[in-house]
Amino acid sequence: MEQIEQLQEQLKKQEKLASLGLMSAGIAHEIQNPLNFVINFSKMSDKLLNDLTEIVEDHKDKLPEDDREDLEDIVTDLKENMAKIVEHGERAINIIQGILLVSRGKENEFRPTDICKLVKEYVWLSYHSMRANQKGFNLAIHESYDTNIPPVTVIPQDLSRAVLNVMNNACYAVWKKAQTAGEGYKPEISVSVVIHDGNLRISIGDNGEGMTDEVKQRLYENFFTTKPIGQGTGLGMGIIRDIIVNKHGGTISFDSVEGEGTTFTFTIPIKK
Ligand SMILES: Nc1ncnc2c1ncn2[C@@H]1O[C@H](COP(=O)(O)OP(=O)(O)OP(=O)(O)O)[C@@H](O)[C@H]1O
Ligand SMILES: [Mg+2]
Repeated sequence: MEQIEQLQEQLKKQEKLASLGLMSAGIAHEIQNPLNFVINFSKMSDKLLNDLTEIVEDHKDKLPEDDREDLEDIVTDLKENMAKIVEHGERAINIIQGILLVSRGKENEFRPTDICKLVKEYVWLSYHSMRANQKGFNLAIHESYDTNIPPVTVIPQDLSRAVLNVMNNACYAVWKKAQTAGEGYKPEISVSVVIHDGNLRISIGDNGEGMTDEVKQRLYENFFTTKPIGQGTGLGMGIIRDIIVNKHGGTISFDSVEGEGTTFTFTIPIKK
């Protein structure tokens, strides 16, 4: 009975959280419109200021020197203010879109996505959470993003989970190696996003502990982990395979040398 009561308590909490999520998504969505007005009117006012400057320019000989200078100063200040309004308004829009992405994004929803931005965001999220947990440990991240990649249609929530999982594994692998390797060891992770043969390719490589043959074979097994209890559940790779292979019709390949490092590559066909 006690357990049932606990579960009911938990359910209630979850329901509350879910409705809170819906509510914040609703608010975020509604705020977007007025914010867009603020930004657009600031941009329009900026153009009007340009027109005003031209008119003043045409008649400048009719104005006393002092007034002309004052006028120019005011116009410059006004233009700077407009730019600030636009800049901060756009910042607010970005924050709101972040909230919408987290709370509203339906599961399994394919959406055109800026892949480099997504990968970068989750790579650094993983890095910072590792740094928070392993005080004093650091590693170098090398990033290479093809800047010409158009938005690719993926399930952003899922792809970001996959990136986070691989990145977490890579961080762990270099941290693990650093525990035994000598002074000269420099932990490194390389991330790249490219389009190759009509496929999107995301690679995350580390120079960590690498994998033994047994690990390579059992990699995708649910609950297979080499990490101590409490540090790994052994579900990460299975989830990644579900996301990349089953949901996106892609493939996962890896290259790993025991003691030297591992690189995982997701290859995802680009949907037309
Ligand atoms: N980059 C890597 N370098 C070395 N070993 C790796 C790497 N990625 C995965 N592995 C091995 O594969 C195992 C399974 O990985 P998986 O992500 O499925 O589980 P996990 O990381 O142990 O736990 P979690 O469920 O928290 O992800 C890991 O325990 C580790 O031994
Ligand atoms: Mg993992």
